Amino acid sequence: VPPARHVPVFLDRVRELLAPALGRTGAVLLDATLGLAGHAAALLADSPQLRLVGIDRDPAALALAAQRLSPYGARVSLVHAVYDELAGVLSSLDISSVDGVLFDLGVSSLQIDEVGRGFAYAQDAPLDMRMDPTADRTAADVLNTYDTAVLTRVFRDYGEERFARRIAQAVVRERARAPFTTSARFVDLVRAAVPAPARRTGGHPAKRVFQALRIEVNAELASLERAVPASLAALRVGGRVVVLSYQSLEDRIVKRALGAAAGDRPPVGLPVQLAGSAPELRLLTRGAEVAAEAEVAANPRASSARLRAAERIREAP
Ligand SMILES: C[S@@+](CC[C@H](N)C(=O)[O-])C[C@H]1O[C@@H](n2cnc3c(N)ncnc32)[C@H](O)[C@@H]1O
Repeated sequence: VPPARHVPVFLDRVRELLAPALGRTGAVLLDATLGLAGHAAALLADSPQLRLVGIDRDPAALALAAQRLSPYGARVSLVHAVYDELAGVLSSLDISSVDGVLFDLGVSSLQIDEVGRGFAYAQDAPLDMRMDPTADRTAADVLNTYDTAVLTRVFRDYGEERFARRIAQAVVRERARAPFTTSARFVDLVRAAVPAPARRTGGHPAKRVFQALRIEVNAELASLERAVPASLAALRVGGRVVVLSYQSLEDRIVKRALGAAAGDRPPVGLPVQLAGSAPELRLLTRGAEVAAEAEVAANPRASSARLRAAERIREAP
């Protein structure tokens, strides 16, 4: 059982939002990011009829979750998959629609705390960052093989890093001397590439490029772009989806996908009511909700969390 400090983010809010959809006999919850199953265990306890399908791309997380959820026996099905494969996962279990979907995006405390997996920049560790250690591309592969232009784009687009080009040029120069293997040398290079005045603002200079590498290694945004619409397609009428994002790039994708299905006004210049565009979803949150001060104080990870939720009100066309 994970230590108490691994508190699931927005736990009470997630329970409250999903409860109305999960009570009926035969209800199914899809937890697309099972992790250590903190949310899932609470939701199973809340609704004694509930069946859970839990997906994670990290086999280590699945093993711990399986232990934790063993009291729920046959109510639980755990699958090693990337969440954009969710339609295939559901059909392999003969499930045609679900009553609830939860996405709690990003990395788990398990992944961050295990130094050898290379997610944290504070200690020297292998440049890995694969959420699924059976996947083939590591952060070192990205640094050692991408050309300057592509590296620049990764640092800029996924890290919102102002000095992306300088850092990319330094990487390409340095790797010619010796390929990158562990993080310390890369962190030093980033620090040296960022001009001194900029080093004093905006947090640790390695933070943004580490985020960027992680997103690239795991193709996180492309996967999310496919997964949110796939989850909406699986949701029955009356079913609810809740998504927790931890950075603006993720939240933007979620906002757009939910907004489009909720009939947000089309951009200026398009006809006001496109044929067949009656809203399929009702948004349950106004904008994105942020955690209350007390939750952030108890759980620092909650400080960057953004929650959005919606309910299906009409069949998908
Ligand atoms: C923040 S943790 C989830 C924590 C969980 N809600 C809990 O209460 O313990 C996110 C999990 O999602 C997994 N994950 C991230 N992206 C994924 C993807 N594209 N497909 C499948 N799993 C993914 C990660 O491996 C990680 O275990």
